[in-house]
Amino acid sequence: MRVGILTGGGDCPGLNAVIRGIVKSAPKDIEIIGIKHGWKGLIDLEYVKLTDDDVEGIHILGGTILGTSRTNPFKSVETRDKVLENIKKLRLDALIAIGGDDTLSVAAKYHAMGLNVVGVPKTIDNDISNTDYTFGFHTAVNVGADAIDRLHSTAKSHERIIFVELMGRDTGWITIEAGLAAGAHLILIPEFPMTLEEIIHILDRRMKRKKYAVVAVAEGFKPTDFETQITIDTRTDEFGHIQLGGIGHVLAKVVSERTGYETRAVVLGHLLRGGTPTAFDRILGTKYGVKAMELVIQGDFGRMVALKGNDIVSIPIEYGVSVKKFVPYEYYKLAMTFFG
Ligand code: F6P
Repeated sequence: MRVGILTGGGDCPGLNAVIRGIVKSAPKDIEIIGIKHGWKGLIDLEYVKLTDDDVEGIHILGGTILGTSRTNPFKSVETRDKVLENIKKLRLDALIAIGGDDTLSVAAKYHAMGLNVVGVPKTIDNDISNTDYTFGFHTAVNVGADAIDRLHSTAKSHERIIFVELMGRDTGWITIEAGLAAGAHLILIPEFPMTLEEIIHILDRRMKRKKYAVVAVAEGFKPTDFETQITIDTRTDEFGHIQLGGIGHVLAKVVSERTGYETRAVVLGHLLRGGTPTAFDRILGTKYGVKAMELVIQGDFGRMVALKGNDIVSIPIEYGVSVKKFVPYEYYKLAMTFFG
């Protein structure tokens, strides 16, 4: 039997732990083919054979040894069919797709077309439904919390408001958890917009009391009275995503102009995604990889591995990607207790 593995979308700490988990747990008669650069490798036929030796110790490394891309094979009939043709050429009996909602929705479409596919949910954003966590999220939260911790002392010394911008696209999971862990004085996430007046009100109260503030703001946050989201580039990628970013700087400017307080902005960006995964993400990635191989051996296709409490289970891929998982109000309400 020959099984292909690919990693698609943004890279994420823990991807290599999944790859190692798959390869190491594969019975000796299963040959593993690593597809390079996500779906792109199945269009361009770029691949590498993976053995136990190749994956030795890689679970501690950030990024993905296979490379990744945001290629969408369904953007044309030619590329869609090229993937099917190359899967035949490679004699793959099954494919394990490790990725976020974009990569997994492509996997679901190929499964509907008859391919033997298993999905593994990956994203620092933690926005995939029906799994408690995606690997990579824990690492991103730790990096974010560490950065916010550090900003307290400099904000306090200079009596400034510092806006820290964190990734997460349309959801605020990373921002709420990093902000809560590091005691941010205000947490702004896309799920619960506020007006500029409300933001200024909270910050003014805080500045009068303590003379400094650290604000965790998600890249996808849009104040209720702004017409559009702040973006770096209006061009979209192959899955239709705009590159978000800049809200931290915009808020720093507007709040300073309106209040006279000194402000600064820090963008954490890709720092949240780079580097070695936490022990939690190494273990979650490893368990996901082993479970994915188990599903392949059982011939249980069209499934995505998922975390439910302490158990690794499997669910239909569509359950993971049909709706995004947003931060619920109860959680934001808890975070609000610590604002100001
Ligand atoms: O989905 C993961 C993520 O890191 C988002 O949080 C962010 O908006 C996006 O990817 C950035 O993408 P890129 O690496 O293409 O700049």
